Amino acid sequence: MGRAALVTGASSGLGEEFARLFANDGVDLILVARRRERLESLADALRAPGKVSVQVIAADLGVPGDVERVIREVQAHGAEIEFLVNNAGLGNVGPFAGSALGTQLMMVDVNIRALVRLTHAFLPAMLQRRRGRVLNIGSTAGLQPGPFGAVYYASKAFVNSFTEALAHELKGTGVTATVSLPGATATEFASVAGSGESRLFRSGVMTSAEVARDAYRAMLHGKAFVVHGWKNKVLGFSVRLGPRSVVRAISAAMNKTGS
Ligand SMILES: NC(=O)c1ccc[n+]([C@@H]2O[C@H](COP(=O)([O-])OP(=O)(O)OC[C@H]3O[C@@H](n4cnc5c(N)ncnc54)[C@H](OP(=O)(O)O)[C@@H]3O)[C@@H](O)[C@H]2O)c1
Repeated sequence: MGRAALVTGASSGLGEEFARLFANDGVDLILVARRRERLESLADALRAPGKVSVQVIAADLGVPGDVERVIREVQAHGAEIEFLVNNAGLGNVGPFAGSALGTQLMMVDVNIRALVRLTHAFLPAMLQRRRGRVLNIGSTAGLQPGPFGAVYYASKAFVNSFTEALAHELKGTGVTATVSLPGATATEFASVAGSGESRLFRSGVMTSAEVARDAYRAMLHGKAFVVHGWKNKVLGFSVRLGPRSVVRAISAAMNKTGS
């Protein structure tokens, strides 16, 4: 395996779409997620036209030892990671007090810790080659605090901020970092998060293909920051203008699951 893309969270939703986009462009792939069977069947489909080589690494990115194993296995495959897509992530809705601590910490470990570790692992070689693209999946959720989704929103604020800062540090190196900010998107995310019945998801969603295509294009152009769809762009702009108390109240209402 030569020049390749490492895509985390490739077993469904946006990650699966990113994998298809890279394969269409003839880029070899390493797919990471927990559900091996899903990854294997996607890998078979992507290999079928005979254009790309695809490796699968089943790993729980909420477990630091598994993240280290991913890094070792990528090195063992001899892959040159030219594209790193930190897409794996999960959300959760409900009041923080009384929530399952394991789920809250899992969001920190997958959405933040694994993303930082993988970026730190693959960036030096990209810089040495003076070529590479990092695409981190943040969220419009990271643009404001999210009552009844507090840890998820804060984890995405981290991803948005970290990636934009990195993009600036990387100027002139030949390597770029892009943060993609999807709003509500039709994937398995809402059912995992328990937010499928929330106002946010009932008020309209984009398709994963639309979002992934837009994010992929922004990454290829080396854009630092991209919000997908006009509705999300308007929302992103309005939270900058509104008083914080109003922004918090609207965000809380959007996370409510009742009518
Ligand atoms: N859908 C939305 O409305 C929305 C909006 C804004 C941002 N996002 C972000 O978009 C990214 C992709 O999510 P999606 O919408 O495509 O949702 P999804 O369909 O639920 O996909 C999430 C992916 O992350 C993987 N994942 C979750 N926990 C993992 C773990 N512990 N270890 C390894 N992989 C793990 C899942 O694979 P396994 O279950 O097989 O491990 C799956 O492939 C996430 O970062 C999410 O926060 C989504």
